[in-house]
Amino acid sequence: MSVMLTGDRPTGPLHLGHYFGSLRERVRLQDDPQVETFVLMADAQAYTDHADQPEQVRKNVLEVMLDYLAVGIDPDKSTIFVQTGVPQIHELAVFLMNLITFGRLEANPTVKQEIRQKKMGDKVPAGFVFYPIHQAADILVVKGEIVPVGEDQRPMIELAADLADRFNRTYDTIFPRPHVVTPAGGRLPGIDGGAKASKTLDNAINLSDSADLVAEKVNAMYTDPGHIRVQDPGRVEGNVVFAYLDAFDPRTEEVVALKAQYQQGGLGDVALKRRLTEVLNDLLEPIRTRRAELATDPHQVMLLLKQGTDRTRDVAENTLEEVRAAMRLDYFTVI
Ligand code: TRP
Repeated sequence: MSVMLTGDRPTGPLHLGHYFGSLRERVRLQDDPQVETFVLMADAQAYTDHADQPEQVRKNVLEVMLDYLAVGIDPDKSTIFVQTGVPQIHELAVFLMNLITFGRLEANPTVKQEIRQKKMGDKVPAGFVFYPIHQAADILVVKGEIVPVGEDQRPMIELAADLADRFNRTYDTIFPRPHVVTPAGGRLPGIDGGAKASKTLDNAINLSDSADLVAEKVNAMYTDPGHIRVQDPGRVEGNVVFAYLDAFDPRTEEVVALKAQYQQGGLGDVALKRRLTEVLNDLLEPIRTRRAELATDPHQVMLLLKQGTDRTRDVAENTLEEVRAAMRLDYFTVI
């Protein structure tokens, strides 16, 4: 039996990048009898760059919960919890802090990129630089091994694996080594052709977008600027429409044929985009319907989150008892 843990910051609605990078894999793994699955709503991590927007984080806890349930994360199979409801995570993070250098934290390529993208300049909150350690604690507190995430999260999971090793060598062997599971085909690009679909860059299709908005976003997608007339040969590499067809169109053989036709000339962007709109709306329509149903009873949705949080806290407390004993901090345990 191994444990899967992954999660998201509740800073906005989830999008197709999340679905491609991780949500799909979570739904698959929750049916694997060999895997216990935990899904985390990283609200404390959201505060590392939204400290002054508590209402936004609070609102998005419900929104992300709706996204989770709507894509098929099933609370009977997966334990869904909120980070701040499990304070053992913070406790473990404080201990892990001493097992890596400040230099290594500062060198984290994903954190550096986020600092640039979010234009933090010289106003980088200390908590933001620290969040990868906190994230390692998210994983280790439930002894997570399998971590389905997008490619940009790889440095975080490698750090968690190193911290697990360091802890095990320094004190006692408690933690398994977590590893990343990323989707084949790398990351999903933004509709503007940017390397990554992202909420911050506002270039993503949200799971909750209406059918019309999906059509509008697909129409705005970056293709090949040199492909002007239908009969012109077009480029497939870097073409966002093909990247999305590769990611989501179940008729893979037809996509292969479409690529060949596009490269040769004779296939227009309009027809191609019409196909993609259909593919995406076929995927999203049942998600939208289910989301709308669930949204009528927010109280029940939050209750499911509470149940998962209570359960995770028990698991986390068991881990912390081991941690405190290994670190010789169990002063008051009756022997
Ligand atoms: N940093 C992740 C993101 O921005 C969210 C996250 C928090 C996470 N804790 C985690 C992912 C633990 C995997 C495991 O998407």
